[in-house]
Amino acid sequence: MSTFKSLNPTNLSDVVVETKLATADDIADAARRAKAAQKAWAKMPAPARGRVIANAGRLFENNKEALSKLVTREMGKVYREALGDVQEVIDTCDFFLGEGRRLYGQTVPSEMPNKNLFTFRMPVGTALIITAGNFPAAVPSWYIIPALLTGNSVVWKPSEYTPAVAEAMTAIFHAAGVPNDVLITVVAEGKETFEGMVKGLDEGTINKVGFTGSTEVGRLIGAKVGEYIQSACLELGGKNPMIIMPDADLELALDGALFAGFGTAGQRCTSLGTLWIHDSVYDKFLKMYADKVAGSKVGDPMEDVLFGPMIGEKYLATHEENLKLIQPHHTVHGSTGIGRITKDNPREGFVGDPDAGVFAHPTIVAGIKKEDALYNTETFGPLVTVGRFSTIEEAIELGNDHGFGLSAAIYTSDPKTVWTFREGISAGMLSINNSTSGAEAHLPFGGNGKSGNGSRQSGIWVLDVFTRWQSLNWDWSGKLQKAQMDNEEVPHNPDFKI
Ligand code: UN1
Repeated sequence: MSTFKSLNPTNLSDVVVETKLATADDIADAARRAKAAQKAWAKMPAPARGRVIANAGRLFENNKEALSKLVTREMGKVYREALGDVQEVIDTCDFFLGEGRRLYGQTVPSEMPNKNLFTFRMPVGTALIITAGNFPAAVPSWYIIPALLTGNSVVWKPSEYTPAVAEAMTAIFHAAGVPNDVLITVVAEGKETFEGMVKGLDEGTINKVGFTGSTEVGRLIGAKVGEYIQSACLELGGKNPMIIMPDADLELALDGALFAGFGTAGQRCTSLGTLWIHDSVYDKFLKMYADKVAGSKVGDPMEDVLFGPMIGEKYLATHEENLKLIQPHHTVHGSTGIGRITKDNPREGFVGDPDAGVFAHPTIVAGIKKEDALYNTETFGPLVTVGRFSTIEEAIELGNDHGFGLSAAIYTSDPKTVWTFREGISAGMLSINNSTSGAEAHLPFGGNGKSGNGSRQSGIWVLDVFTRWQSLNWDWSGKLQKAQMDNEEVPHNPDFKI
């Protein structure tokens, strides 16, 4: 059996944990066990499941610092952001503990007398949840918590880069009262996961798949799951635009662009893709941005830095591939080098030892054009592209035409521009005078086009992912009343005029 060493990306000599990698058969077996446990879990009254979620929320709160430290150690985001990652789990528990006492269906009037109509939410069954390493706590919780609350069992396949966080989270859910087989965590590589998923789909032990990751893998999963008459919940990549209008508060926009572009080392699906700056402020704002990024601290994520290491070597390698897309008509800003930060390729003011970890220079690539490969490549690293525009209509077109549609932001003080943007931009999540990232945990999270197939996580909207509507009609008239045929016609005068 193969194993995977999860390394601290700040200091690669620190092995966080060595995990056994599950095979496709292990995943199929986990799905069988989870399926067997699901019925009893669904039988538990929803308010009681809500209590379990409440217990989990309290435990996450009590363990917030320890878990956040583990997030920083294993994944590399700065500690303040790691606290936010875990806080998002707590927020999600807060939201769904009450849903246990709602989980509303409807009473609906019938067209017949002495007949009542109702709707009920039914759990889907067993969900396979596949998540990425960049938000090792928050994003899994967006699936796991509502899935459990609505009476599903879950097989969770976290990123192989963050198995220790996954193990800690799973232990918290179990300590909160989730039965062991109702939430089973398996760490596996992509190929084995896919094969295990197909086995589970074949056996009917996987009834829903949730996936957060690349558009490329999402397409494969969505297509396969479709063969089984299921629809996956897909949360995929983004190339999130931020538009700077001439009437923007530039200092405010600067803070937003800094955090959106380089928070989490640019490894959020909501990270800033291209900064579109209006012609009239282009030179000024580009200089402000380049100077701000150049002057920001990078390094040890437990210190006060803009960002820490990338998640792992694989992520850095992809970042370095993306840097090859820079063309002669582009200009590069933001650091004293590009690519990996080392003693030989130093970053001015670096905090810590760059050679010990997986650090990358922040890179701003200006002069981006629609024809450039970087225009429609999700870069998922500390790389922000910058381009110019002259009208809001042009900016909206540039913000849409790459086909991603996750998040988008605009900085302006004109309400007319806000509404033109709102109506024209195709992304699922919009921000006015705020970052492209940093969505709150109770709004619908998800995208369109290459960013997702329309399913939404979080808040009340995710209930439609993990439940199916069941309708009930109950006729107590004592006779067969045929809908559309036995209805009483109300006498009326169709020719009446005053
Ligand atoms: C992700 O990168 O997959 O909106 C999730 C945000 C965070 C979650 C990002 N609350 O940036």
